[in-house]
Amino acid sequence: MSEAVAERPSLPELVPPDQWPDPHPHYHRLRAEKPIWWIPEWDEYVFTRFEDCERILRDPTMSSDPANRRMPPPILQLGEGLDRPRSMLMMDPPDHTRLRKLVSKAFTPRTVERLRPHVADLVETMLDAVDPSGFDLLGGLGYPLPVTVICELLGIPAEDQHLFGPWSSDASRMLDGDLDAETIQRGTLAFMQLVNYLNGIFEERRAHPRDDLLSALLAAEEAGDKLSEEELRSTVVLLFVAGHETTTNLIGNGMVALLRNRDQWERLVADPSLAPGAVEEVLRYDGPVHLTARTAMRPMEIDGFEIEPGQGLLTLLAAANRDPARFPDPDRLDIARPDTHHLTFSQGAHYCLGAALARLEGQEAFKALAQRFPSLELAEEPVHREHFILRGYQKVLVQAT
Ligand code: HEM
Repeated sequence: MSEAVAERPSLPELVPPDQWPDPHPHYHRLRAEKPIWWIPEWDEYVFTRFEDCERILRDPTMSSDPANRRMPPPILQLGEGLDRPRSMLMMDPPDHTRLRKLVSKAFTPRTVERLRPHVADLVETMLDAVDPSGFDLLGGLGYPLPVTVICELLGIPAEDQHLFGPWSSDASRMLDGDLDAETIQRGTLAFMQLVNYLNGIFEERRAHPRDDLLSALLAAEEAGDKLSEEELRSTVVLLFVAGHETTTNLIGNGMVALLRNRDQWERLVADPSLAPGAVEEVLRYDGPVHLTARTAMRPMEIDGFEIEPGQGLLTLLAAANRDPARFPDPDRLDIARPDTHHLTFSQGAHYCLGAALARLEGQEAFKALAQRFPSLELAEEPVHREHFILRGYQKVLVQAT
């Protein structure tokens, strides 16, 4: 480890919970003080600059498998003995390539684009049901929209969402960092309940295959060499959880950002065709995922710091997205910003598989809200969920006159 590196013992000391509601001024301070921070308890370097984060994520020699860490990360230490899901998110080639290929066709921009009219209809139906004089944007649209879409794609009954919503929320915290033992236990229990529920659906679908992603994955599993049973389960759970927790927060965080920056909301109201730019800009400005991790697999140097094999590297995506060296006036929300090449969906081999779908859902949601409710405003100060990595609100109460 280089002598000059700045350090904090743990992630909550590097980014204290009292900064979570608006971490950006703190990220700016960290980035200005030192480009790289060191967390000894986690044996991890933390990167805040766009250029460094992008380089790490694009480097094909980096590993996403935490088992390659020379010191097991806290999430593995805390949950020892628990049967935890291992999805493609935490795999390297060739397993990662094989699993990703099995599902990637369903998520290409062209395939996803065909869903646009249907997603627009879903948004209209959901907004027909809200009371414009006061409604929760997340309960009315932000949550049910992505859940319905991912359930339809997979072939899971969307009407069961009251059952699996809470499981998914607890299980998704497993993607978060800074976990205590209780949260891990709760997340693991939720994961098991979700798996039990899905096992029932698997049985039914094995007996009666349909034209859905689940049936396609079951066929791949039965073919024997492409997908093991454990991989089948972890892939479905990942698609299912990643498919809605994050998009809910794109809609929630994005609408809060737009309504707080009234001039930008009014621009969108005046010209709803700006919705794609608005989605990119809110993903940059207040993204639903604040960091991701890699493990170095070879000795290397970044900004003069020597990195050893097995070393953990944390890329603070949200800090990179507001790096003034990359984005002029980074704290300004500008839905017509010419360059919105953010890192919110990561980069490289693990680039978010659902990016096109999340974008489409966000665009249709913003467009319909701007067209229907030009006078929309926040009815009260929204409260954040107590997550650091997966960032979103508990509730976003809005009203239109
Ligand atoms: C705004 C919404 C979303 C955000 C911000 C987001 C963010 C991310 C990020 C940062 C990664 C990569 C993590 C890494 O590099 O270590 C990722 C991977 C992934 N996402 Fe998303 N995601 C979103 C929506 C979705 C949706 C809608 C789906 C599914 C339908 C999805 C499925 C996946 C999958 C399967 C991966 C793993 C890809 C791989 O490991 O190769 N995501 N997502």
